[in-house]
Order: sequence, then C-alpha cells, then structure tokens
Amino acid sequence: MKPLGTPGTPSATRVMLLGAGELGKEVVIALQRLGVETIAVDRYAHAPGQQVAHHARTIDMTDPEALRALILAERPDLVVPEIEAIATAALEELEAEGVVTVIPTARATRLTMDREGIRRLAAETLGLPTSPYRFCDSVDELRAAIDGTSGADGIGYPCVVKPVMSSSGKGQSRIDGPDDVTPAWEHAMAAGRVHGGRVIVEAFIDFEYEITQLTVRARDADGETLTHFCEPIGHRQVGGDYVESWQPHPMHPTARRRAQEIAGIVTANLDGLGVFGVELFVSGEQVWFSEVSPRPHDTGMVTMVTQWQNEFELHARAILGLPVDTGLASPGASAVIYGGVEGTGIVYDGVDEALRIPHSDIRIFGKGDSHVSRRMGVALVRDHDVEVARRQATHAASLVRPRLA
Ligand SMILES: Nc1ncnc2c1ncn2[C@@H]1O[C@H](COP(=O)(O)OP(=O)(O)OP(=O)(O)O)[C@@H](O)[C@H]1O
Ligand SMILES: [Mg+2]
Repeated sequence: MKPLGTPGTPSATRVMLLGAGELGKEVVIALQRLGVETIAVDRYAHAPGQQVAHHARTIDMTDPEALRALILAERPDLVVPEIEAIATAALEELEAEGVVTVIPTARATRLTMDREGIRRLAAETLGLPTSPYRFCDSVDELRAAIDGTSGADGIGYPCVVKPVMSSSGKGQSRIDGPDDVTPAWEHAMAAGRVHGGRVIVEAFIDFEYEITQLTVRARDADGETLTHFCEPIGHRQVGGDYVESWQPHPMHPTARRRAQEIAGIVTANLDGLGVFGVELFVSGEQVWFSEVSPRPHDTGMVTMVTQWQNEFELHARAILGLPVDTGLASPGASAVIYGGVEGTGIVYDGVDEALRIPHSDIRIFGKGDSHVSRRMGVALVRDHDVEVARRQATHAASLVRPRLA
C-alpha cells in the first residue's frame, strides 16, 4: 500500500465503502482519523455513513453495470463492502482486471453473500463442524429433505429454514413439525433477496450459547499476514436479529481453542486483509461453525466500549496494511435501540438519562426513516462485571425513546 496521503489532493488514499449503514459509518470515521478520503455508497441518499464521508454516492449496488461504472469513475484504492447485497460478479471482474482491490477479496464477498457458497466451503471443503443441512428449490424438496426419502437420512425436527440470499433473520423460521413446512417455505419465498428462491434447511442446534469470534487478518512488520483474535463476544438473537451483545463471553478452554482454530481456518481460506465476524454455536467443549461476515459484525459494536481499538478501527488499520491491537480494555455490553415508531425525522427522548448511567455511551445512527423494529442506535456500557454491563446497557437502551417530531 502506498503511504497515506492528503484527502482532496492527488496524494490521497481513497477508500470506497459499499454500504453506508451504522457499521460503514464507523469504518468511515476510523478511516477519516487516518486522513483517508472516503466515498460512501448506498442505495438511498443520506445514509448514516454518507453523513460522515467526504463523498456520497447513491446507486443500486446490485446492478453490475452501475457498480462497475461508479468504481471506474472513482478509481478508489480500496473497495470495502459493508453489506451482502452487492453485484459481487462485477467486483470479481474488476479485481481480476487489476482495477481495484476488494476487501478482503472479491471471492470472499461472493461466497459469503450466499449461504450455499459459504456453507459448502466450510463443511465440504474445509471439513469444519456445522449443523447437518440440505439445499432445496421447492416445498416438496424441503419436505423430503426434512423427512428423508428412500433410505437417505432426513434433517428431522426441529430444523431451521432460511433463504440462501438473506440477512438479519429475514425469511427465517423454525420448523417444529410437518404442519410448519409450507408456512416456512412461503415465509422464505416472500423474504429472499432473489426471486425463484432456494433455501437451506439446517438441523436445529440446541446450543448452550453463541458467540462472534472477531478475527483480524493484518500485516506484520515483515509484510506477512498474521491472524489476530478478539475476546469472544456473546450475543442474544431474537428472530435472527441481534438485540444485545457482550464481551468477553467465558468459554471452556477447549471450546475457546476450537473457536480460534475454526475462525483461523475459514478466514485463511477467504484470504485478504481485515476484520471477519465468525459466528459460532457452542455447547461445553463442542463448537459449530454457523456463518462468517468478511467485515465488522453488528454484534461487534460492543467493542466501541470494550477494546483499545474497536472492530472498525481494526478494520481500517488492517486493510491499510497497518498493525493492529485486539486487546480488551474493559468488559462491556451493547443493547440495540429500536425505532419503535414509523416515521421520518424522529427525535430521541431520554438520551440524557441514558448517559447518566455510569460508564455508558450511546450511538445514534442518524437514519432518516424510523420503523418499529429498525435498528436506530445502540447503547454501550462498560463494567468490570459483564453481567452488570449487560443489565445497564439494556436499561440505557430502554431509556432512549424515539418519537415523532
Ligand atoms: N441451525 C441452527 N440452530 C439453532 N439456531 C440457529 C440455527 N441457525 C440459526 N440460528 C439462530 O438464528 C440466528 C440467525 O441465523 P443466521 O446467522 O444464519 O442468519 P442471518 O440472517 O445471517 O443473521 P445475521 O445477518 O443477523 O447474522 C443465529 O444467530 C442463531 O441464533
Ligand atoms: Mg448471522
């Protein structure tokens, strides 16, 4: 990587974020602190990351022609995908043509946007432990995959159905018996990102807890790529969407070692530089790989109050080829602030009370449209006792009350 330059001049280091939500916003802020010129792209204007970037561009990032034209016009040094719904084939072409470097790699963004790509890689190529799974293209195939047909073992009940192209729990449902199969199929079809949908059906893992193993691939002094691990982040999901997270989550030493091993193997295969969020299910000493984001993870927002370098700073440094420190500064927790109301230009009551909680902080993302279950902000609390931090973060989040202006 060339030396860092000055924004707005020919020497500038220019980074384009594809997706400018709350996670992209924090990556932009981290890059800004290093004097990087930032271009924030989203499908709607005035997205959170666009509010803090040097340049804002609004395009349909699933349109390969539009994406290609924008990258060719801007010629950034790095392209950093923040979301999954991107025309990743266009990124692969541009990377192959040597036009741009995609973070971590164009291949990683393609494989991880599709549950089939990443699951087959993890389970079949890399031999990592996962829930038993099948892919299905119709409700009849789904039923057969669950019940088993002509000798083949079925996935059985309970199980989980997800569109192969979806995130944040959209279109997901748990199936407890034969009556749930058709509704689960229809739910998946209504929510999948791509029409004519395909689903994955996975055996339900009755795990004790789940973690995000933040993993950073960064250059060492000799230019070699080293893998660094953050302390495990525990989290609670409701309907496939995260509501609170905390760090560190205590783990059996064997499980902790397995988690790092699995994260090391999958991120080494995906290659490139930057932060990865490896999602794992854990019971006792046993660890299952679930999925991986080749970018900072929503549950990792807790690191804004727990680590010396939060996951966004780690990402910014790693992609620029700079050294990283994944050390924990204090245990802590995060809790999501939801819109609670439908409307635009809302105001936030209770911020004062929330910030009166000792060692608390909040982020308001600045999203223009509020929806009842849209993530509008996050409350953060550090405490030497992670359980206290969790309670206080949830309390702080509940004190912030969005309402119509
Ligand atoms: N096979 C499974 N067994 C038990 N629980 C599961 C299984 N698959 C998913 N879950 C639960 O649902 C949550 C969301 O699943 P998953 O991470 O696959 O979906 P997602 O839509 O990609 O979510 P996100 O984008 O928020 O990470 C998991 O974190 C876990 O709590
Ligand atoms: Mg997930």
